[in-house]
Amino acid sequence: MGILNGKTAVVTGSTSGIGLACARAFAGAGANVVINGMGVPADIETARAAIKRDFAVEAIYSPADMTKPSEIAALIALGEASFGSVDILVNNAGIQHVSPIEDFTAEKWDAVIAINLSAAFHAIRAVVPGMKKRGWGRIINTASAHSMVASPFKSAYVAAKHGIAGLTKTVALELARSKITCNCISPGYVWTPLVEKQIPNTMAARRMRRDEVINDVLLAAQPTKEFVTVEQVASLALFLCSDDAAQMTGANLSMDGGWTAA
Ligand SMILES: NC(=O)c1ccc[n+]([C@@H]2O[C@H](COP(=O)([O-])OP(=O)(O)OC[C@H]3O[C@@H](n4cnc5c(N)ncnc54)[C@H](O)[C@@H]3O)[C@@H](O)[C@H]2O)c1
Repeated sequence: MGILNGKTAVVTGSTSGIGLACARAFAGAGANVVINGMGVPADIETARAAIKRDFAVEAIYSPADMTKPSEIAALIALGEASFGSVDILVNNAGIQHVSPIEDFTAEKWDAVIAINLSAAFHAIRAVVPGMKKRGWGRIINTASAHSMVASPFKSAYVAAKHGIAGLTKTVALELARSKITCNCISPGYVWTPLVEKQIPNTMAARRMRRDEVINDVLLAAQPTKEFVTVEQVASLALFLCSDDAAQMTGANLSMDGGWTAA
């Protein structure tokens, strides 16, 4: 009997990386899961079927686009209609764009803010009524070390992640008497497609080679000189869903190899 038996988790942006690891960790603890995100349909179906097979839970997929408030509301409604409740929400979908501020296009700014910040607002407002009715809930936002510190060329991302940290605290205070916790996890660099994709732009912006970007830019700020793993982040998310974490709310939890200690 897993600690999440009978519970349902919606994880945004869970077709790869941290989100997929969270969905698999929750399923391993017995939760039914709704996965979401972009990607090649066959790959997504493989990931969904693997969750169902590996953990003997239900796993469904929603293609909801996190830039569209109506689709975000429909994602939560899908979880409630399919499984009777959404007990755990992980706001994890995210994109990155790296550019000097004067070349940062308005379209890229809007997309990063929409997916990394506003989507969490839309999902939280949709999920809270059901959680309040049932008197239990866990909301986890994937923030970043960039919710605490900045790096050049990441204006929208850093703004969105600082915003997520503030949203987390506000929601935690509002729900403190409802047995619903809201926390954010702030990883340092985790080796995922999101990180891999930003390397070419960083190479161009900083006029560096690939190995220089990895060692002298990405891992430069991480005192352990190692990437965080998606499984480590997922384990923390699972802990936040446990009864032992019932009194943790409004926290911004670093998992960054010492980055923000410096
Ligand atoms: N990888 C890191 O080093 C790192 C560090 C700190 C924080 N984070 C955060 O972790 C989260 C997950 O990132 P990741 O590193 O696992 O990257 P990833 O690229 O593997 O995952 C991002 C997910 O978001 C989804 N997504 C993107 N745009 C979407 C949209 N419009 N609608 C729905 N889904 C969308 C993708 O399809 C994918 O499933 C992000 O919020 C990111 O900012 C990552």
